[in-house]
Amino acid sequence: MARPGLVITRRIYEEVYTSLQAEFDIRADNQATDQPWDIQALQQRIAQADYMLCTVADKIDASVIGAAARLKVIATGAVGFNNIDVAACKARGVLVTNTPDVLTQTTADFGFALMMATARRISESERYARAGQWSGWAFDQFAGRDLHHATLGIIGMGRIGSAIARRAAGFEMRVLYHNRMPSQDAVAATWVQKEQLLRESDFVMLVVPYSPATHHLIGAAELALMKPSATLINIARGGVVDDQALIAALKEKRIAAAGLDVFENEPKFDPAFLQFENVVITPHIASSSRATRGAMMQLAADNLLAHARGLPLLTPVA
Ligand code: DGY
Repeated sequence: MARPGLVITRRIYEEVYTSLQAEFDIRADNQATDQPWDIQALQQRIAQADYMLCTVADKIDASVIGAAARLKVIATGAVGFNNIDVAACKARGVLVTNTPDVLTQTTADFGFALMMATARRISESERYARAGQWSGWAFDQFAGRDLHHATLGIIGMGRIGSAIARRAAGFEMRVLYHNRMPSQDAVAATWVQKEQLLRESDFVMLVVPYSPATHHLIGAAELALMKPSATLINIARGGVVDDQALIAALKEKRIAAAGLDVFENEPKFDPAFLQFENVVITPHIASSSRATRGAMMQLAADNLLAHARGLPLLTPVA
């Protein structure tokens, strides 16, 4: 019997590729160059595929779904799936899976690392040392802000938010959080309205999924509520923050600093961010440890393998 056709949009680890090769006819992959495919390439390649393994960086819109004649499942190697038009998938009977849980701890580690790097001016001081500008020790050199005993406000107390709150407990931070509803999992954290969280937090950490409801959740009005000494950390998604409003707030020193792993229009984020020494910029790597990215790819692959074997999907979103 002919094996089902699979399309893999980006380079994946060899062990994951091998597990798929055993059961699928891989009609297209990106192992050689890993250059993102544009919409036309996606449409062309999806046309004859039964299954697709994609990433957060592939825009799977209604036109791509419309080009799929026999597609059964799209497995994205990410927990967030706002890049996929799930309604268009549903309308065509295409199932979608994501990768929750496997990235929770690694992403929480990174959220904490980005907060610490921003608070303690790690990138800025490293640039200075590398540039040969370090001529001597001084009391006030790169004086940063303390995390311990500071107030951390987490917007989005899901799995990753809770894991960040647990880390914050070790730093004896006061933790506030905001969700639409108070969460059962919120360890030693207090639910407050978003406005109170913004007013009282020394560090505001964004961990919400992107959707029309969270588009520009942090804009000029929200930034105006933050303390001038406060730091914004975004490990959620570009678009959750209004980048132009953030640039204006940083220019006018209305907040102290920002740590940003995600941007509107990434990877072509607004170069205005580059002028700020107090902004730590990372290229959407919060879940990127070798082990976790491998687990994400494997979970995506395992969803496809399960479906091809007639078994239930492991982590369906729709
Ligand atoms: C996710 O899993 O949604 C991450 O953003 C991917 O890197």
